[in-house]
Amino acid sequence: MQIKDLQFKQFINKSKIQEKVRTLASQINTDYKEKTPVFLPILNGSFVFAADLIKHIEVPCKVSFVKVSSYGGAVSSSGQLKTLIGLEASLFNQDVILVEDIVDTGLTLQKIIEELKGLGTKSVEVVSLLRKQPARDKMLTVKYVGFEIDHEFVVGYGLDYDGLGRNLKEIYKASPAAEAATEAKA
Ligand code: PRP
Ligand code: MN
Ligand code: MG
Repeated sequence: MQIKDLQFKQFINKSKIQEKVRTLASQINTDYKEKTPVFLPILNGSFVFAADLIKHIEVPCKVSFVKVSSYGGAVSSSGQLKTLIGLEASLFNQDVILVEDIVDTGLTLQKIIEELKGLGTKSVEVVSLLRKQPARDKMLTVKYVGFEIDHEFVVGYGLDYDGLGRNLKEIYKASPAAEAATEAKA
């Protein structure tokens, strides 16, 4: 499959994703039994995952959104974060669960967690469908992780390449041009 200049191949299929979403939700249901967590999906990328996850949450909960951007149109994190929709002050004394599609350098989360501290939250945890190696190196605490992946560029299921591909039901990874050419011949 081609998006703009990049060739992609299937990486994680629909049923694997859905199975993982159910597993993550059931862990959260167990851990937040006596609580009313506030889910805070980080837009844009997390909207598909967050929508699926929330359907399996069985404890009373709330949902609010923040929007930041670090990648722009590139295939790797720019290192600079733009806050486009900010945090609500009503998170005081709340058990917040940040929802991410992917944690890469960890910069996005780091910045948001810093801001949350100023709002007097009771607790902050993170659920991310995907996590790349650099985030592990940074020792960023992501309590609920769906899939650990290597340093590859992925799209689909909310993840984009220059805004495209968020609608794909499965997750794809960019394949090197040479590999794509070989496949085409096979
Ligand atoms: C992507 C992804 C995460 C973040 C991870 O968002 O959805 O939010 O980057 O990268 P990091 O750990 O290196 O900060 P992006 O900035 O592309 O915005 P988007 O969600 O609107 O696509
Ligand atoms: Mn994002
Ligand atoms: Mg993006």
